[in-house]
Amino acid sequence: MYTLDVGEESITLRPEGTAPVCRAYLEHGMHKRAQPVKLWYFSSFFRRERPQKGRFRQFWQIGAEAIGSDDPAVDAESILLLAELLEALGCRGVRLKIGSLGTPETRRAYRADLQAFLREHAPELAPEVVARIDLNPLRAFDSDHPGTQVVMEQAPRLLDRLNDEDREHFATVRELLDVVGQAYEVDATLVRGLDYYTRTVFEFTSSALGAQSGVGGGGRYDGLMEQIGGAPTPGIGWASGVERMLLTASAVPAAGPPLDLFVAYAEPELRAAAFRLAADVRRAGRAARVELGGRSLKGQLKQADRAGARYVAILGDEGTSLRDMETGAQQVVETGTVMHHITRSEL
Ligand code: HAM
Repeated sequence: MYTLDVGEESITLRPEGTAPVCRAYLEHGMHKRAQPVKLWYFSSFFRRERPQKGRFRQFWQIGAEAIGSDDPAVDAESILLLAELLEALGCRGVRLKIGSLGTPETRRAYRADLQAFLREHAPELAPEVVARIDLNPLRAFDSDHPGTQVVMEQAPRLLDRLNDEDREHFATVRELLDVVGQAYEVDATLVRGLDYYTRTVFEFTSSALGAQSGVGGGGRYDGLMEQIGGAPTPGIGWASGVERMLLTASAVPAAGPPLDLFVAYAEPELRAAAFRLAADVRRAGRAARVELGGRSLKGQLKQADRAGARYVAILGDEGTSLRDMETGAQQVVETGTVMHHITRSEL
């Protein structure tokens, strides 16, 4: 997190939106409304991480939370909402992984068992995995060290340790996803970066992203409300990174919008007339650029070509020439009729 001293105050930039939404639920007495209460947000967040492709220190998230019910149908509905959003955006190569973390007690007991298992097999494990046994034993599942991978195939899994209620809850979530034909993979070692999760966790990844393959994810946080001072209240939700959604979306053009007209001028005295023509074309709803770099006419034409302009208007002493960059046709026209020619594709 980013924590800054501002005068007497210490300020921390928010890293995520779930805890703030839970605080809003408490402060506004939303337990009095019909449960679950469904809330959403679209905002910027800050994390002190090493930037790389798809990982920024300031980024945007869209998120949705449903607070006040532990019904597995809320889990399934929440997952489906994000699946449909990613689908509507045309995000490519998307896969859904789901898992269940059970209760904190189950997790504590499991963690101790996993640590004992790892210590027993320490000689076969990668040194960095051994070094992390105390702090983060679950990371052993992500190791690409061949010896470690062999050992981890036999390692105890949290999913097999769930109590009856949690196991049934997870089975119902899967059944509801099956009913609507939502594809998913059960990932017994799905770990999420935040501490508050209980029961269902999920993540959408995309093959169109690099190492930071998570597009969006979330899960249940049935203990969070108590942690921040409220009555025990179940909740579930997700957040999706807006930059990552855009990076994976096929609908986003690689280049900018098409340029309808580039206005070039042969003499400096014609700058105002050129400026005015570009402004008129923009006011009429078309994309126009005018020469802004004081280039020679030849340089301007090169620039128009590079910008992918559909038409170029060249203002000169002899009048205005309009060139169709697709066909190469060129014609002297009245400056006031340029827009007319462009819209009718007439030259
Ligand atoms: P998260 O997995 O930490 O979950 O973040 C959700 C999404 O935010 C990620 O999948 C990713 O797309 C985007 N994201 C995270 N960090 C960065 C970054 N440094 N640069 C760009 N994008 C990033 C949460 O934040 C939970 N609050 C989600 C949740 C809601 N769980 C329950 N309710």
